[in-house]
Amino acid sequence: MSLYMQLTSLLLPVFSSFLILILLYVINFYVTYITRENPLPGPIPLPIAGNLHQMKNSSKFYAAMHKRYGDVFEFYIANKRFIMLNRVDLAEKVLTQSVKSNYFIRAASESQGWEELGLTKKGLIGNKERNSWLLNRRLLNHCLTSTKYIKEIVTVVQTLFSEAEEYWKELGDSTSLEFTEWIHCLNVDTQVRIVTSQRTYALSTYFNSLLAPHLKKSLPQSSIQSYSKFVSHILFFNQVGKYFYFISPFLRHYVPGFRQIAERMKRRIGWLTEEMKKIVNERKREIENMSEKEELKVDLLSLMLTINTEKDTNRIKSSEFERPLTEEEIVQLLIEVFSGGIDTITNAICFTIYYTCKYPAVKARLLSEIDATVSSKGHSLSYDSIVTLFPYTSAVMKEAARVLTVAPIVIQLASEDDEVAGYKWRAGTPIGVNYGIIHKHTAYWKDPETFRPERFLDECTDEIKPKTFLPFGGTFEVELCEPDKEIKYTYSMTNQCTELKVYLRARNNKE
Ligand code: HEM
Repeated sequence: MSLYMQLTSLLLPVFSSFLILILLYVINFYVTYITRENPLPGPIPLPIAGNLHQMKNSSKFYAAMHKRYGDVFEFYIANKRFIMLNRVDLAEKVLTQSVKSNYFIRAASESQGWEELGLTKKGLIGNKERNSWLLNRRLLNHCLTSTKYIKEIVTVVQTLFSEAEEYWKELGDSTSLEFTEWIHCLNVDTQVRIVTSQRTYALSTYFNSLLAPHLKKSLPQSSIQSYSKFVSHILFFNQVGKYFYFISPFLRHYVPGFRQIAERMKRRIGWLTEEMKKIVNERKREIENMSEKEELKVDLLSLMLTINTEKDTNRIKSSEFERPLTEEEIVQLLIEVFSGGIDTITNAICFTIYYTCKYPAVKARLLSEIDATVSSKGHSLSYDSIVTLFPYTSAVMKEAARVLTVAPIVIQLASEDDEVAGYKWRAGTPIGVNYGIIHKHTAYWKDPETFRPERFLDECTDEIKPKTFLPFGGTFEVELCEPDKEIKYTYSMTNQCTELKVYLRARNNKE
């Protein structure tokens, strides 16, 4: 027998066994799919991938599925089945904001991946331990909402925004700017400053990169070493969460390629945690060495380090929450505050600017409110004046958040068997709610596709029904460079603005 024949007779059984295995897997997959409990309308999944191949832009995928299948549908990510609810009355139980809720746990927190990352017993985002979550949440809230902290935020935002204004003036009226970059940098500088009191120079570095070589300015050294690496690692945190949730432990642990990505991600989280520890310890030492007369810096980190200690002038008087935060808790909360706050705020501002500039009447009314208020108050505004004197501005921000919701989807798990949307579900079924759809549902909103901030003003008689809207919370004229183009955005855990070219022009040039 020739070598060729020998090889063929040897490989053929291996190959056919392999084919049979695949065939059995596929048959098993579709039998399980067809006989699943409570079959709901939804796209037919592929083995291994589920519906991932249709989800390049998940936001658009969910909208298309809603149009096709209605308010309750199902879909698969890899081999995980998800139920998606698109109406408030159906999702009532899932949306109950209580630590006692059956839907307290986020879907990803039950995954082996988040367990492996250590996210399920600390912080807020993945914490499954109700008492620990409650304590972290209560103490963080107490710091974030303290009056002196809010006042400090208003001052820092105004100072850093003035710096940005100077740069824009220097660039001149007719330079096209990539606004997403500007706001990202301004936001990074602001958040690092209000959270740690440290200075980063993201905005000046970006501005410098736009100048001719002979005009570039020398910049001070940031007090956070390699802060751009620090920021990129923070922004990467959400990607890590996604990877460790969706990619199975088998792939992450044993399959080349997948394994290396997982290892690299873990190294990056390790590096970020160590850097955060250094920042926390440095501030801890500073506070310990402070003289009695010295005043504590007003930043989130200092507040977190001193909460419920003898240095705290605003102690919580409730036995459950009387202890200080530990170093490990502070480190995790800081990572989550940064990773939850940077991209969301950047994108919310970009979307608001886009819609404001797109509708000239909205822009005119917004500017007239700002002009009337700012000229009478001077340039420096207090927090109280910001929340009370800008109803239309606030309505514009809400309307932008309604029309293009930054973080539209929450996915929770039932801890016990439950009935939702008319079906009985076993504990552990991931159930999602899509606020992107609810915010534009014809059952709740008149002309939902129309950008109409007035709907949020008292002057409008439109009723905003409970839970149908979950909000978040200059002198330049902004104009879209290409007003006829659709906004460019992509979805990756949150909706993210990928491009927003604008002209920033000093307004008095036109008057
Ligand atoms: C426009 C801005 C923002 C939007 C649209 C937004 C959106 C959201 C949404 C929808 C959730 C709930 C996710 C879920 O239940 O699965 C969430 C949770 C969270 N966000 Fe934000 N957020 C914004 C700003 C911020 C900021 C500035 C911070 C930093 C303080 C932050 C920190 C967090 C944290 C720590 C959680 C987890 C809370 C918990 O489990 O108790 N977010 N955010």
